[in-house]
Formats: sequence, C-alpha cells, structure tokens
Amino acid sequence: MSFYTIDSISFSYNKTETLFKDVSFNIEKNQNIGLIGPNGCGKTTLANIMMGILKVQSGEVYLQGKNIKQLSLSDIGKRVGYVFQNPEVQLFCPTVKDQMYFSIRYNKDIEEDQIDEKIKHLLYIFELDKHKDHSPLNLSIGEKQRLALASVLSREVEFLILDEPTTSLDILRINQLEKYLSIIQQKGIGYLIISHDRGFLNKHVDKLLILKSEGVELI
Ligand SMILES: Nc1ncnc2c1ncn2[C@@H]1O[C@H](COP(=O)(O)OP(=O)(O)O)[C@@H](O)[C@H]1O
Ligand SMILES: [Mg+2]
Repeated sequence: MSFYTIDSISFSYNKTETLFKDVSFNIEKNQNIGLIGPNGCGKTTLANIMMGILKVQSGEVYLQGKNIKQLSLSDIGKRVGYVFQNPEVQLFCPTVKDQMYFSIRYNKDIEEDQIDEKIKHLLYIFELDKHKDHSPLNLSIGEKQRLALASVLSREVEFLILDEPTTSLDILRINQLEKYLSIIQQKGIGYLIISHDRGFLNKHVDKLLILKSEGVELI
C-alpha cells in the first residue's frame, strides 16, 4: 500500500474552467518527491487537496489506504506536516515557545514532562533557541519558515509537504534548509517539495512530478 494514492483526480475552482484533470500518482512513505509546473498550474491547490483542505470534483485520494474523505483534517495533520507557501498563516501563538507547545500538544499521547525537552531540542536544531520568547511574527521570513518546519516536525509526522520553501531564502538559509532536509531524510520521513528551483530539487528529491492540466508526468 502506498502512503498516498492519487487516483484520477480532477479539480476546478469554478464550473467553467478545469484546473487539472485525471491526475494520478503514488507516493511511498519514505520517498522524496519534487513537484514542478508553471505558475498557476495548481501545485498549491494539489497540496491543499492532499491535506484534505480542498475537495476534488472527481477521482479519489487515499492516505495509507484510507479514503481522505473519511479522515478529519486533524487525522491528516497528525500524519502529514504541511509548510504553507506563506508560513505566517500557520504561526499564531504569542511566542515561539508557545507555538511549539501548541503543535506538540496536537498529538495528545505525549507525556507532559517530555514536551519541554522536545521543544528545547527542536529549537536548538533549527537555531531558534535565542528567539524562544519572541513573537513568531517578528521573526525574519527564513526564521518563520524554520519555525513552521520545527513545529510540524514536533508532531512526529510521517510525511511532509513543503510549498516553495526556498522562495524567500538567501543562499545561506537555503544551505541551512538543505541541512535540515538531510536530517529529515535520515529519519526516513518522506516529503513532497513544490519548487521552481531545479538545482535545489535535484539535490533533495529522487523523483520529479510535472503537473499539467491533463495529468502529471513523471521524470
Ligand atoms: N481560492 C481560489 N479561488 C479561485 N481560484 C483560485 C483559488 N486559489 C487559486 N486559484 C487559481 O487557481 C490557479 C492555481 O493556483 P495555485 O494552485 O496556487 O497554483 P500554483 O501553486 O501552481 O502557482 C491559479 O490560476 C489561481 O489564481
Ligand atoms: Mg503555489
């Protein structure tokens, strides 16, 4: 059973125009996939569909064999971490530490005394410890992206979807992100990265999907 099975899905925002149709592909749990395609072709839309945020007009999406229609947003969010194109929309707590706490608490089965240690560890890895008492909104864009990543990873997700993670990062920050991706890869967590940066993708993915209005092409 694949981690994701996308089975002949079609999507449109309105009745007159189909964004894409008959898109099918599978993703295995520890696969690292790049998703490319011109601006406006529907990459972010596809990510939202995979997170259960948007519903398709036809076709089916299965997550670990279960139809996504039967899963709640929270069921999906516990398994799949999503870093939005604009990470600001997912950072809403008063401080960086609170944001991490909120995220970890999402998985209700963690012991209270493990939480502090986990927050410390992740803030250290993502070099955010000195900002732990600051508001997420005052961080730089790169720091926001790192916090969004740290917070989704804190939930012990099995898979990650990153939407254009490099767009607002300078070369130094891209190198940092690359370091974190290697850590994620080593942990056996699969991911799908949406990006225009082919050089970046070539280093971090083992398959490229090109989204087209008539299905996807695999290269
Ligand atoms: N909520 C929405 N309502 C109507 N049209 C939308 C909405 N969101 C995106 N679109 C349109 O759908 C198309 C695909 O958008 P998007 O998935 O963001 O593309 P990409 O991420 O590949 O650039 C674009 O033409 C965009 O303007
Ligand atoms: Mg997009």
